[in-house]
Amino acid sequence: MSEITRRNFFKAGGLATAAVAAPIAGLNASPAAASTDTKTIFEFAKKKISNAQSLGNTQAFTYPDSMSPCLLINHDEPVEGGVGPNNNIVAYSTLCTHMGCPTQYDSNEKVFKCHCHFSVFDAEKSGQVAIGQAIDNLPRILLDYDESTGNVTAVGVEGLIYGRQANFIEL
Ligand code: FES
Repeated sequence: MSEITRRNFFKAGGLATAAVAAPIAGLNASPAAASTDTKTIFEFAKKKISNAQSLGNTQAFTYPDSMSPCLLINHDEPVEGGVGPNNNIVAYSTLCTHMGCPTQYDSNEKVFKCHCHFSVFDAEKSGQVAIGQAIDNLPRILLDYDESTGNVTAVGVEGLIYGRQANFIEL
């Protein structure tokens, strides 16, 4: 009968941890990843969403993948974090941060409303929770505006999309 020494116990534990950790690490590997000596940096893919010259009041799209519904809003006036010639274009994930219900944009009040438990998010103030059960703001889709072409491109996400441990998922 073999005796488990303290040294062998920790050695076996380390191997088991590595075996479990390797597949988990692979889950987040689909976006472009760059390794440095100390950490791995994931980069969002860039996705053209619209053109400022032809943009209507709103435009639905998905980002950073097809499972993540978002809405681009072309406000009448400049807003916090807005891009474009008038700093008025913003975009958000439309999944409520409370329990993931789809929110609806109310263009009159300029807020996103969740009809599951009545949270309201301010589309003019970076998706801030105005009222309700949610405690986190709506994730903001980071946009880049190209002055020469008028293109509006999604380049990242600020805040965690509901139901995810990271904004990247393997498709
Ligand atoms: S899921 Fe939106 S308030 Fe609960």
